[in-house]
Amino acid sequence: MEQNYGTGMYDEKYSKKEETSPRSIVVYFIDNFLIPGQSCLDLGCGAGRHSKYLAEKGIDVTAVDLSQEGVRKTQQILADYPRSDALVADIHHLPFSDASFDSLISNRVLDYNDDHGLDTVFSEIVRVVKENTLILLTLRSTAQLPKQNETLTQENDLGGKTYQVQGGKEVGVYQHYFTESEIRRLAEDHGLTVEEIKEDQSENKYHDLKAEWQVILKKNSEK
Ligand SMILES: C[S@@+](CC[C@H](N)C(=O)[O-])C[C@H]1O[C@@H](n2cnc3c(N)ncnc32)[C@H](O)[C@@H]1O
Repeated sequence: MEQNYGTGMYDEKYSKKEETSPRSIVVYFIDNFLIPGQSCLDLGCGAGRHSKYLAEKGIDVTAVDLSQEGVRKTQQILADYPRSDALVADIHHLPFSDASFDSLISNRVLDYNDDHGLDTVFSEIVRVVKENTLILLTLRSTAQLPKQNETLTQENDLGGKTYQVQGGKEVGVYQHYFTESEIRRLAEDHGLTVEEIKEDQSENKYHDLKAEWQVILKKNSEK
């Protein structure tokens, strides 16, 4: 089955959706760790809710997403901020030089990968940020149950699981469920220190358990 990143589904969603507010974990990270005048890469920006908050806080934002519609909305939001911009790009092949950014956020974007894709994305993240950069990632946890239309395609030695969607609008999309030990190994393998990690669990309106890891990483300096 051909891999896709749900771009068609997201284009449709963002063309309808009204603006939504930034998530509290992202607000916490921006308010406590980022400094006005610094640059930040919003990796998988969606329709731009976190790019907007970053720009309002005086951070120079670069936002990327595969959804043309999401990028169009984000460009509109950033139009008043000349040092910020959004562009269509794949997070596996980022069109930026090494050490371009002072910080990076990525809210629920890395979930759409198998183990190989995750390794590539972590390498790209580490390449494009400067030494000592702080990175916020939110990642789906294995504590959350897969959906009925997801089939297990890969389970790694640390319990991280990749499912693939079998039908509907998201057919072929990978859905990764992370364990803490897997996140710690991905960090270590890519020269990152885990500064904070916590699991957040909540119920949606249908009483399904939603569970994610909220992780702050730091790129180690080269000795
Ligand atoms: C759950 S949404 C989150 C959007 C945004 N971070 C937010 O919090 O509102 C996931 C986003 O990741 C994007 N995405 C998934 N895989 C991608 C890839 N390989 N390259 C760029 N964007 C990707 C999707 O297009 C989608 O906009």
